[in-house]
Amino acid sequence: MLNKLTPGDMLVWLGEKDPRKLEELFREARACAIEHVGPKVYFRGIVELGNICAKDCAYCGIRSGNTRVKRYQMTIEEILAAAREAFEMNYGSVVLQAGERQDEAFLLLIEEALQGIKALSGGKLGITLSLGEQSAETYERWFRAGGHRYLLRIETSDPALYRQLHPADHSFDARLACLRSLKRIGYQTGTGVMIGLPWQTHENLVSDILFFERENIDMIGMGPYIPHVDSALPKSVTDKYDAQENFRLGLVMIALTRLFLKDVNIAAATALQAIDPTGREKGVMAGANIIMPNITPVKYRGDYQLYAGKPCLDEDPRKCSGCLELRVRNAGAEIGYGEWGDPVHFLRKKKTAKECK
Ligand code: 5AD
Ligand code: FES
Repeated sequence: MLNKLTPGDMLVWLGEKDPRKLEELFREARACAIEHVGPKVYFRGIVELGNICAKDCAYCGIRSGNTRVKRYQMTIEEILAAAREAFEMNYGSVVLQAGERQDEAFLLLIEEALQGIKALSGGKLGITLSLGEQSAETYERWFRAGGHRYLLRIETSDPALYRQLHPADHSFDARLACLRSLKRIGYQTGTGVMIGLPWQTHENLVSDILFFERENIDMIGMGPYIPHVDSALPKSVTDKYDAQENFRLGLVMIALTRLFLKDVNIAAATALQAIDPTGREKGVMAGANIIMPNITPVKYRGDYQLYAGKPCLDEDPRKCSGCLELRVRNAGAEIGYGEWGDPVHFLRKKKTAKECK
């Protein structure tokens, strides 16, 4: 029925409120995921290794202008201990995420973390980086050190909306150039958007999905926008926030992206679970195939709150692992323990490139 969706179809689905129709959409999207990327869900343990950030994105809880945040930076030993724990729990990959820092001490820390994680896991742990905008040289340096996937959300594919949500010195074009340089270097490249942003329209969301296709993206991470108490957005704007509506749109976006792009990896964002206790399972049931369990040491978690109501703030990683396993089972899926679960889209691109040589 839903074979090749058109932008017009997607727009209609974004406005669909009938739960029975939505169930049908989600079922189709889950079936599409099973057909194109397989039945498994892959875990990427995420280490939120620091909240010092040079950027001042209006919506974000750890933006540089928020003086109420206690800033922290994990040491190399702490980062490697967290990665070792992920490896022992048989997660296939880890994600190193932090606020944006471009100083040499930070670049070196990440380089050493990459080399250390490769060494402690005998090269078995896959490593995704999510460390914002950096120079092409830095991306190359980290690629050589063992990073092979990179997540950099475009946040919105609409340059005008991007300008409304960011200070004047943050550049949409620079961010897009970063995504393109990551791809050129050879990273499996991930991007995504926030859903239900102030001033965002359903047309914007359709354009976001077309942007993922146009930029030939391998991995998608997107979730509902949730206001933060210290956000720089006017209260009159954040007051309009409708959690349930953003949640519904979040699931519809996962389903439409799955049906439209088919063979990419799509994460069930933690922000889904900040709104609905079963949000991540619902994400899987709507077509997502990646979950990112939080493996940040508990003592730092409270200081890495990008939005309100982030779940699992005081759960130690081993408890999270059991809990998420149950959640995935409840969603009728199995976990690809110890597997990389690379995006089929990326593997296919690579194969085609080889055949062309
Ligand atoms: N609500 C939801 N997601 C947010 N992010 C930042 N602030 C918020 C918020 N208030 C997302 C951004 C960023 C990712 C790490 O977290 O999309 O890229
Ligand atoms: Fe962390 Fe459930 S996912 S306690």
